Amino acid sequence: MREILRWPDPRLGTVCAPVSDVASVAGLVADMFETMYAAPGRGLAAPQVGALVRVFVMDAGWKSGEKTPLACLNPRIVAASDRLVTGEEACLSIPGVTAEVTRPDAITLAFTDPEGAAQVLELTGFAATCAQHELDHLDGLVHFDRLEPAARAALVADYEALA
Ligand code: NI
Repeated sequence: MREILRWPDPRLGTVCAPVSDVASVAGLVADMFETMYAAPGRGLAAPQVGALVRVFVMDAGWKSGEKTPLACLNPRIVAASDRLVTGEEACLSIPGVTAEVTRPDAITLAFTDPEGAAQVLELTGFAATCAQHELDHLDGLVHFDRLEPAARAALVADYEALA
């Protein structure tokens, strides 16, 4: 289990480095799954546990009874739908506040899996939203950073009031 950093820890604003040696992140990936399920959450990016590498884990289905663990190394979006959806997003690093974020409804995600194999997945609905949220973390972005300035300021104030 790893400690989950709270926004605005500066590590959450860092652009993470690509993984060059897949074996070197095996322990990190295992710890991240354990930490994510315990939180409990449906997605966790490496910088949220202080590891500044391009890795995230997610499981869009487990809270509704279907375990679908997915670990992505060096993920990138290679296609995105024109159709956008707005959904409520929570973040384990920003507990107590959710943000309404608009993103493509479907994406094609390319990544390396924990065994080192290249993968391409079509994701839609919540899984697409979750993957985009986690990928943002690897670029130093949180859901607040996807909001208009006034909405962002209001939610940041809500969050600070909880601290
Ligand atoms: Ni998050």
